[in-house]
Amino acid sequence: MKKLPLLGDMSPAQFLRDYWHKKPLLIRQAIPGFKPLLPFESLADLATKDYVESRLVTLTDGEWDMQHGPLKGLPPRSQRAWSMLVQGVNLQSDAADQLLRQFRFVPDARLDDLMVSFATDGGGVGPHFDSYDVFLLQAEGQRRWRISAQKDLSLVEGLPLKILSKFKPEQEFILEPGDMLYLPPHYAHDGVAIGDCQTYSIGFRSPAYQELGEAFLQFMADSIDLPGRYADPDLEAGKKPAEIPKHMLSTIAEELNKVRFTEEDITIFLGEYLSEPKHNVFFTGPAQPLTAGRFRQTAAKKGVKLSRKTQMLYRGKNVFINGESFAVGKADKASLETLANERALTGAEVAEASEDVMEALFAWYTDGWLELAD
Ligand code: SIN
Ligand code: CO
Repeated sequence: MKKLPLLGDMSPAQFLRDYWHKKPLLIRQAIPGFKPLLPFESLADLATKDYVESRLVTLTDGEWDMQHGPLKGLPPRSQRAWSMLVQGVNLQSDAADQLLRQFRFVPDARLDDLMVSFATDGGGVGPHFDSYDVFLLQAEGQRRWRISAQKDLSLVEGLPLKILSKFKPEQEFILEPGDMLYLPPHYAHDGVAIGDCQTYSIGFRSPAYQELGEAFLQFMADSIDLPGRYADPDLEAGKKPAEIPKHMLSTIAEELNKVRFTEEDITIFLGEYLSEPKHNVFFTGPAQPLTAGRFRQTAAKKGVKLSRKTQMLYRGKNVFINGESFAVGKADKASLETLANERALTGAEVAEASEDVMEALFAWYTDGWLELAD
């Protein structure tokens, strides 16, 4: 897929400065002539798989219901007001992956996934807000979006999905295929299908600090080094055997206060954390992998590309791929940075790669993290 304009006449810099996290933006014909990237049947099939996250939302006589996938079956297409939502479609389809990657004016560390929803007339997920920014790209049919900057985000209690109890729409747009609506986090919205419709949501990730903190402490647990053991050679006889001795507390506090973390620790933690594949992502290497020698020859001719499931990031000398990290020297850093940014290396770039990089490329190829380019 060639690079798309996406933001109309606006540059990514302008968009980020004036809209990102700040206010909604409707872009008519962000992708002129846009059509669904996969047929309804393929989408419905994905929703039956246990390695794909999906939901079925129905609205019957004003009652909301939600079922989590894998979905056993769907209501008939003739039935009104149901909606099937499939997460992570970019992991399952090259075309969907390429669409998501059009949004790389936002860093990979912030890009999450492409969700596709199909709804019959009147279908949607109700008025709600999300904690993340989102681009809502209309792919098929029409959807009426009503949105609101309201501060009251209280929810109806006891429902299987998040529905705003006091939704007060301020603006309304009908989106046609190719139109796209950007919404900042916590912006109230409600999208209702007008006839059969498909909407593609480009979602972002913004980890909660609590979640990061818990994961960071676990990460540090594996790397802290506190030699020695408590000792009390000057222990004196006492009358309160149940009391924790003052000396014990102060000595141990002093030792534990030696636990420090550096910016390097945080970098490595964050890179591993952000590049860790989601729990339902599995890699399969080639059924009949080439030998190291043949791989080297072929890769130097055709080039290589990262698997669409691979997350590769870097910061300074640290390179992260699918939850693993390693520090690299200057020469290797150049080829690995190109691989991470371009998600591919040309044959010529592979041919120039060092022995260590070649070894890594071959290991990633056998693991299914990287493929020979076509
Ligand atoms: C949908 O596609 O039905 C819901 C998307 C959203 O509101 O975030
Ligand atoms: Co939403």
